Amino acid sequence: QVTVRQLYRNLSRYEDKEVEIRGWVRNNRAQKKFGFLMINDGTFFETIQVVYEDEFLSNFKEASKIRVGSALKISGIVIKTEGAKQPFEIKAREVHIEGDSPEDYPMQPKRHSREFLREVAHLRPRTNLFTAVFRIRSLASHAIHSFFQEKNFVYVHTPIITSSDAEGAGETFRVSTLDLNNVPMTEEGTIDFKRDFFGKPSNLTVSGQLEAEIFALAFKDVYTFGPTFRAEKSNTSRHASEFWMVEPEIAFADLEDDMYLAEDMVKYIIKYVLEKAPEEMAFLNKFVDKGLLKRLDSVVNSKFKRIAYTEAIEILKKADKTFENNVEWGIDLATEHERYLTEEHFNAPVFVTDWPKDIKAFYMRINDDNKTVAAMDLLVPGSGELIGGSQREERLEVLEKRMEEMNVPKEDLWWYLDLRKYGGVKHAGYGLGFERMLMYLTGVENIRDVIPFPRTPNNIEF
Ligand code: 4AD
Ligand code: MG
Repeated sequence: QVTVRQLYRNLSRYEDKEVEIRGWVRNNRAQKKFGFLMINDGTFFETIQVVYEDEFLSNFKEASKIRVGSALKISGIVIKTEGAKQPFEIKAREVHIEGDSPEDYPMQPKRHSREFLREVAHLRPRTNLFTAVFRIRSLASHAIHSFFQEKNFVYVHTPIITSSDAEGAGETFRVSTLDLNNVPMTEEGTIDFKRDFFGKPSNLTVSGQLEAEIFALAFKDVYTFGPTFRAEKSNTSRHASEFWMVEPEIAFADLEDDMYLAEDMVKYIIKYVLEKAPEEMAFLNKFVDKGLLKRLDSVVNSKFKRIAYTEAIEILKKADKTFENNVEWGIDLATEHERYLTEEHFNAPVFVTDWPKDIKAFYMRINDDNKTVAAMDLLVPGSGELIGGSQREERLEVLEKRMEEMNVPKEDLWWYLDLRKYGGVKHAGYGLGFERMLMYLTGVENIRDVIPFPRTPNNIEF
């Protein structure tokens, strides 16, 4: 038994030898005396051609009627094909149907739209594009673990169910076991969470950062990598309600260290995937984004740009372009601004640092100007904000004051304040949106097409 990937990579080893493969039929074109089966075995995004002839196959009639979608076991001889689309084909000796597929199979041999494929999420991994994308997703997760493990970071499993809203944006999904038909009420007329499962309002995590900080102040270098949830109403091609986030947290470290780590990590992931899946990457470069390989190559070999938020605003003000969203100091950057900076002005990844404190989270360290915080966003062409991070406020009084100003409940986050009290030290971290990284890596433009089962508003069929 051999996989199609092995055949592609070591053709000379298998040439003229008999092999056995198992896979699914993407197409079957039968003539009177011979036919062609296109088979995908899941190990490689491309199909291979199996030629079968009446003369050599005992069940030629049966084979000629095999329908698209069926699962087969085939044995035959590997034949090198000069000048053909594929470097080889298999001349069948035996074709055995392991799983039949009726005529109403939705995935016919033609180009289906991405929209249609989202509606058949249970079948879409059976296309060249999604076979490539989801293998890259798997490889990129592995790359993340190897990057941090090689540096001796400890992988922390932060909780999915929590009572905090780390980002303070109020975009959490509630978790409750309360009976909706009989909600217990307090005397004040509000929901009585004391009688709920956790005895307190709880929600799905929006970020593992606060818990990662706990571990960073014990292990120094840690990371968490898991699903996060945001009940954002924004129905865009870059936002999902459920997405995976990579969040390292490093102690005795500042914003500079944080940016170096982020840059190293992004480059590592790109190099890893290019090395492990060169064929898939070449395919994406050909069919999804013609500039992909060139762009990734220049990213790996360049030093990321760094500008302060204030400079970014200056650049946007001077741009010979009118933006829909007004540009003035204090605004959060809109997608069009991010695009202009990375795609038109720098044409490269850029860190924007030192943001106005009023548009950022409570835990970010206040700079000496008292107006900005030690925060960084990494913006990249195509995906916009890829990473958001900061140095954390380690000064207890400053943090307490900030929480009061921003109405963050100190009593709920007493343990977070304790971290400043007991051996508190400067520390920093960031969050990489894993799907944004995948969009950047594959050139795929919609976040729904890099997630096996996307969760976006009105989207929970599978
Ligand atoms: O900028 P964010 O909100 O930062 C945090 O959550 C920090 N606690 C991270 C940290 O410092 N440990 O989110 C981080 C990244 C964003 O840059 C973006 O790439 C991604 O997460 N992201 C989303 N990706 C997909 N869909 C959404 N709705 C996303 N919201 C954020
Ligand atoms: Mg952000």
